[in-house]
Amino acid sequence: MRLGILGSGSGSNMQAILDGVADGSIPAEIALVLSDNPQGYILERAKKAGIPTGIIDCRGFKSKYPEEAQAETAAALKAAGVDLVCLAGFMRLVREPLLEAFPNRIINIHPALLPAFPGLRAIEQAVDYGVKVFGVTVHFVDEGVDTGPIIAQTSVPVRDDDTEESLSERILVQEHRLYPDVIRRFAEGDLS
Ligand code: GRF
Repeated sequence: MRLGILGSGSGSNMQAILDGVADGSIPAEIALVLSDNPQGYILERAKKAGIPTGIIDCRGFKSKYPEEAQAETAAALKAAGVDLVCLAGFMRLVREPLLEAFPNRIINIHPALLPAFPGLRAIEQAVDYGVKVFGVTVHFVDEGVDTGPIIAQTSVPVRDDDTEESLSERILVQEHRLYPDVIRRFAEGDLS
């Protein structure tokens, strides 16, 4: 199985997937890492590991993912022979034509127990709301904002003294376990 990973930030989830590939626990290969953020550390991590990288040119739009850019992303992923697209901290909404190019083959990790707290600043909102149980979700990507079918979730208890920062740290630890595990299940044919 060939993986394509899209991210905008530090790429710690990409690193966790990469580590799983390197130690043989994920029977797959990372074929391409793309970022809409040329400064994203995700690109550095991929380059260090010798993985091909590319920049997604969003034509100067701050948060929009223009259709032409999505078509270019789809073409690059196809050219790299990608079977499964993993969004890992990717900050733009994927729509057609990218969705059409990889039907049921794009997954995302979201720092919340969906359907609670979709979208941006999920952890901040959860701390403000005072939830006692929080968590992580891996789901298929559809046209909505974090609305696609749920594949796997892990819960994380919230402590009374938790801040956005302290909860984020524990959430990331769980993300780095859950995402590689879901991808392993895909690669082993246990998920489709
Ligand atoms: C993660 O919390 C992910 O769930 C969210 O953005 C963060 C990305 O972190 N969508 P990283 O770039 O993988 O370190």
